[in-house]
This record gives sequence, structure tokens and C-alpha cells, in this order.
Amino acid sequence: MLNSIRLLLAVSAMWGCVAHAQMTLPSHQAAATLPGPQATATLPGPQAAASLPGHGGPIRAVAADGTHIVSGSFDGTALVWPEGLVLRGHDGAVNAVALMADGTVVTGGADGKIMLQRYGTEPVTLGRHDGPVVALATQGERIASAGWDATARLWDRHGLVRVLSGHDGNVNAVAFAPDGGVVTAGYDGTLRHWNDAGAAVIRLGVPQNAVVVARDGQILAGGADGVLRRIDPDSTMSELRVDTMAITGLGLSPDDTQVAVVSLGGVAMLIDRAHLQITTVLHGSEAPLWSVAFAGAEVVTGGAGRVLRRWDPASGRPLGLLGAAPVAEPPGEGRGAQVFRACAACHSLATDGGNRAGPSLHGLFGRQVASQPDYPYSDALRALDLVWTPQAVAHLFTVGPHEATPGTKMPEQVIADPADRAALLRFLEQATRASPLKD
Ligand code: HEC
Repeated sequence: MLNSIRLLLAVSAMWGCVAHAQMTLPSHQAAATLPGPQATATLPGPQAAASLPGHGGPIRAVAADGTHIVSGSFDGTALVWPEGLVLRGHDGAVNAVALMADGTVVTGGADGKIMLQRYGTEPVTLGRHDGPVVALATQGERIASAGWDATARLWDRHGLVRVLSGHDGNVNAVAFAPDGGVVTAGYDGTLRHWNDAGAAVIRLGVPQNAVVVARDGQILAGGADGVLRRIDPDSTMSELRVDTMAITGLGLSPDDTQVAVVSLGGVAMLIDRAHLQITTVLHGSEAPLWSVAFAGAEVVTGGAGRVLRRWDPASGRPLGLLGAAPVAEPPGEGRGAQVFRACAACHSLATDGGNRAGPSLHGLFGRQVASQPDYPYSDALRALDLVWTPQAVAHLFTVGPHEATPGTKMPEQVIADPADRAALLRFLEQATRASPLKD
């Protein structure tokens, strides 16, 4: 379990859940549940739901202020709600998102880049880490980032201000403290409270994935062991077990009284900060969940299901979905179609590939590797000399993409059961050749 933080982005183990969540999403609801009075007037009818913007992969990050919600996805885009504005520019998953006071969106990617974008302007690259960026925080004009290059970094709108080195391994989370300092949480099981003089180290002994700091200086950290830890400014520590699987995200309510927690196991709940007690369970989430934020009077969660879910923090009731999950149900009932559901989270079969994390597999067999126009393949895949055959695809999922196609952006995954591989290939031979599916 201590190693489970490694699972954070090793999404391969979870695609079964993705497929499940996808099947249960009533996509027509998306049209009816956009927030904001101005949105209501222009809401499209249910039949138009498919044209609403939506993510093409699981939602990895969410941030919100009083007016906007930003989501970052494995599909390489960030979306700004309620407008549905699509922000591009990352090569790989958008792992982290934040909003500045003037509405500028900050995104951090698996490509190590940190980008700034305002509505109607071109995105600019603020700078980069030497590894994936996995968390962002803002305070006024200040930006803090956490990366898997063992550093956290401080930025202003114009560039790098300071590198915070000291963690032994991945830095997974970052938050600004009320004293102007910064708190980071790492795979090394420590929290570090940085100020001009250096860092105070709080040793928790368990990899930490998420951190928030309240205005009174109290720190709350989410561990890979599923335990929420609350550390007072005088170092008193209290614990609450939330799940047996890793906590992946934390969010503080605008008045600091509640903490929202989500986990890899799909637990979503609200905790009373003063008493460290569960007050509300958000029932009916998908697993895994990656992210949570308070958005004005609502809570939003993001995870495997590709749509943001909105919740009423008082009752725990769902308020609806944000975004249209592209309707991706592959045809057919057979085993092969079932196995393909895990692929469909990232791959369509349509002639136009949509914005999913991976390229469309339309016309796959006989196609040169990395030849789908308009898809931003990795250099590693482009460099391969390979024509896709059923044997090549079978090999890909026997040994896994990292061995079959080293350096690829496709997450590591294998289909261990030879019968499942065979069923998938039979399905693909039909479905990639059939007349294009609408999605
Ligand atoms: C989490 C997302 C994700 C999942 C799930 C996924 N893939 Fe992929 N796949 C990708 C990405 C991203 C690429 C592009 C890789 C690159 O450019 O390095 C890719 C590339 C491919 C390619 C090469 C396509 C080409 O045009 O050369 C094939 C074939 C493929 N995937 C098949 C599958 C199958 C079959 C499954 C299910 C068993 C699957 N993938 C599951 C993300 C995914």
C-alpha cells in the first residue's frame, strides 16, 4: 500500500473501472445540468448533447473559483466551464490546473510544461519541470508547482522565481500557506513548509498525494494509505481513515470549515475540519477519482468517468454532470467488445478521432504506425517502422506498450488472458473496418 502512489498515474490497472463508469453515464443529462443563469438561456436540447464539449479521457485535475471551473484530462486538454472553452498545448495528460485572480488558467502537464492561458489569447509556456508536473496552486499573482523531478517551483506571471529542492523523490502536491510560505507533500512521506529561511520538515512516514492549508495555518494531507492527516501549527497531529486506497485529492470549502476528500477507490466525502468527522458522503461516484474542488456553493469531482460531477455539499446529492462524455459504446455484445471498452476510454473507431487521449483506431490493420492525420503522436511512436497487423496488436498487449513501443504515450497495460486478446482482435478486425461509427 505504501507504494500505491505509484499507481497514481499508472492508470493501466484501472481501466476496468473506466469502462464501467462510462457505461453508466447517462450522457443526455449533461445538456440539462449546465450551471449559471446565463447558461440556462442557451442550453441546447438533449439531442444536442453530443456537441457539447467533453473530455476524451479521465479527468485528472479540477480547480474552481466563484465563477469558473477548470478541468484537466488525460486527453491532453483543459476545459473551462461553464463556457466549455478548450485549452490545448500540452503534449500528454494535463495533470494539474489552477486559476489566477484575473481568470488566467494555469495548467501543468505530463510533458513537464506549465502554461498560462486567458480566454481568447494564445497559450504561453511559463516554464517547465524536468519531469511531469502533478500539482499547481495559486495565491494572488504567485504560482506554485509540484513535479516528479523532486522539486517544487515558485513562479510569477513572467517566469521562474525559485526552485524548492529537498524532497527525496516525487513531489505530489503543493499549497500556499497563509504566512506566504508554501507547503509541499511528497512520495518521501514528508510535508515541507517552505519560507525564505528554508523548510520545516514534517515526517509522516507514508507517501502523501494531496495537501491543503487553511487560513489558520492548519495543514491537511491525504496519504497513499487512505488516511487524512491534520497537522496544527503547533505540530499536533490527528488522523482519519477515509479509504483503504490512496487519497488522490483534497479541497477546502470557501469558509475553510469543510474538507472534500476523494480517493483512488472512488470514495468522495466531506469532512468537518474542526472535529475531523465525516459529515457528508457523496454517493454514486465512479472509481478511481482523481480530483475535487469546491466551486462556489457546489463540490465538483473528476475521475474515470470523463465528466465532472457536481454535488450539493449540504445533502451529498448529485446535482448533475458537466460536459458530454462522447458516447463511445462500441457495438456488439461479445467478449471482444467488452474488452475494447477499456480502450474506448482513449480510442474512438470513428473516421474523425474526436479529442480522445489516443488516436482513432479506424482502419487500423494495414496502417503504418503513427499515421492517423491530426493526432499528435509521440516521437517514439513516429520513429517506429511498423505496420499494424493483428499479430502486432496482440504483441502490444502481451508484453505491454512500454516494451513493445518504448517511449510511447500509451499507459502501460497488458491483456493477460490469451482468450481476451483473441476476442479483442476479432472485435477490432470487424470494428476498425466497419463503416465509421458516429461518436
Ligand atoms: C489511457 C489511454 C489509452 C488506453 C486506455 C489505450 N490506449 Fe492505445 N494509445 C493511447 C495513446 C496516447 C496512444 C498514442 C501513443 C503515442 O503517440 O506514443 C495510443 C496508441 C495506440 C495504438 C497505435 C495507433 C497508431 O495509430 O499507430 C494502438 C494500436 C492502440 N493504442 C491500441 C489500443 C488498444 C487496443 C487498447 C485497449 C486494449 C488501448 N490502445 C488502450 C492511449 C490509450
